[in-house]
Amino acid sequence: MVKTIELVDGKVVMLDQSRLPLEVRYVECADYHKVAEGIKKLWIRGAPAIGIAAAMGAAIGAQEIKADRFEEFYEALEPVFSTMIATRPTAVNIEWAVNRLRKLLKSKKELGVGGLKALLIDEANNMLAEDIEVNREIGRLGVRFIRDGDTVITHCNAGSLATGGYGTATAPIRAAIERGRKVHVIADETRPVFQGCRLTAWELMQDGIPVTLITDSAAGALMRKGEISLAIVGTDRTAANGDVVNKIGTYTLAVLCKEHGVPFYVAAPTSSIDLSIATGDLVPIEERDPEEVTVVSGCRIAPEGVNVRNPAFDVTPAKYVTAIITEKGVFKPEELHKLKESPVRSSTRSF
Ligand code: MRU
Repeated sequence: MVKTIELVDGKVVMLDQSRLPLEVRYVECADYHKVAEGIKKLWIRGAPAIGIAAAMGAAIGAQEIKADRFEEFYEALEPVFSTMIATRPTAVNIEWAVNRLRKLLKSKKELGVGGLKALLIDEANNMLAEDIEVNREIGRLGVRFIRDGDTVITHCNAGSLATGGYGTATAPIRAAIERGRKVHVIADETRPVFQGCRLTAWELMQDGIPVTLITDSAAGALMRKGEISLAIVGTDRTAANGDVVNKIGTYTLAVLCKEHGVPFYVAAPTSSIDLSIATGDLVPIEERDPEEVTVVSGCRIAPEGVNVRNPAFDVTPAKYVTAIITEKGVFKPEELHKLKESPVRSSTRSF
């Protein structure tokens, strides 16, 4: 499985996904500004991966701070945290990661500034390791939805590249294959920046998982012919009512699934579930550079001066979602409130 990001000798090393699949190149980020640049420019992308990158960026940013007292140190860290949060607005994972670091610092003041600096590095590494474990659990819980011989459609990239490793949407697929089931993946190319084509197809091929690439507009035709058994996608932020915010085109896919009776599953680590936000319509949707639409691989494909809209994400209303597979259980969208209860039990209902 391909390595997305790691902390090496006080530097954040990330695979530059903007160059895949043509070039496998790792970028070394020696300061937090460079990490923020990497998140903005999609060198690293995918909600869990940018959460981890933000934590790592903040951890290396903290090492530069000259302060003796906790209050001084904590205050000096705020601009580092806010730089990370400002990179991309839609995925909740960056805020989740930063809030986790804030809470940890406040609970361990007694370690002193030196101890806290070391703790931040450890915690960023923990987040990476935990993320892989969380995804494996999503795989263990989600594997029951994939039968031998199934064809699974996915959108964008919610695989190893989008996470610490193993992926979220790919987790049940990987788990099914590990259990000896035959599974075929259909990857939507995912306009405008082709995460399905450049990333999902590439990573699955690296791991020997059968994959067929289609244009986004081909999904309906395949479903109509009965060629798709189920859909599994990731999420950048899922709201308390079960509305799922994910890569633009996810909504279209979900509506097609409903029309054709294809189950539509969302693989969501709890770090991507935002119970503080009531509905998907309240989630800020990132609008990206129009050139992502008009220029492909350096080649202009649209008339100069054309009006462009480029929302990077959309909202799939909860009514289209069959179930949300988290590491803490599988939930109907309307059951997400159960995540507030402890201990959380996996729903026993069938989906
Ligand atoms: O713009 P991107 O490539 O960061 O968008 C990524 C997605 O939409 C993924 O589906 C989502 O982050 C979930 S990744 C496990």
